[in-house]
Amino acid sequence: MDDIVVGPLDLAARVDDALAVQALAFGLTAEEVAVRRHIVLRHLASRGARALGATTHGGRLVGFVYGMPNDRSHWWSGVVEPYLRATGSEGWLDDSFVITELHVHPDFQKRGIGRELITTITDSAAEPRSILSAIDTESPARGLYRRLGYRDLARPVHFPSAQSPYVVMGAPLPLLG
Ligand SMILES: CC(C)(COP(=O)(O)OP(=O)(O)OC[C@H]1O[C@@H](n2cnc3c(N)ncnc32)[C@H](O)[C@@H]1OP(=O)(O)O)[C@@H](O)C(=O)NCCC(=O)NCCS
Repeated sequence: MDDIVVGPLDLAARVDDALAVQALAFGLTAEEVAVRRHIVLRHLASRGARALGATTHGGRLVGFVYGMPNDRSHWWSGVVEPYLRATGSEGWLDDSFVITELHVHPDFQKRGIGRELITTITDSAAEPRSILSAIDTESPARGLYRRLGYRDLARPVHFPSAQSPYVVMGAPLPLLG
């Protein structure tokens, strides 16, 4: 971690670098990258949207996180709402900071960068809790989220654009240390 700095990221300016990291970490086709590019730039215009990057001393972006206060009028919130209502956890959509994306380049994983990105961005959130969606499988992401205090709120959750089922998770803030 010594050679990596976590700090504010001008994601609009570095969107191609960030999507290159996401494409390797998460697996995105060139077509999916083009679609995500529009979505990320639109998200950045949302109220309270913030991004952090993990950068080498040479300026190479090796990880990023971004999110925003949840807005019930947003597409993501609308998709997950009926699932949360069904489990009695719909209240998590209010006063909640959404982690929209978190990705670390595979060569830089398991060094604490993902944890630092998500804890740093949520530490400066005004909201008392955080929500996110993750693929509903026992991935490193899911394990990390659990250790930080996120618990399953609803599963399986189906996004119209995705084949895999997702889980919606929520955690009180601050995250566990
Ligand atoms: C999820 C993700 C962002 C986590 O990033 P990361 O930088 O590897 O996360 P961390 O290093 O903070 O923590 C992950 C693991 O590394 C371990 N770790 C942290 N520092 C370490 C160190 N110095 N030495 C060894 N292991 C360490 C953590 O304990 C944790 O281990 P565990 O999962 O075996 O318990 C990354 O795996 C990723 O990009 N995955 C693909 C994309 C993805 O799924 N994103 C989330 C979409 S919902």
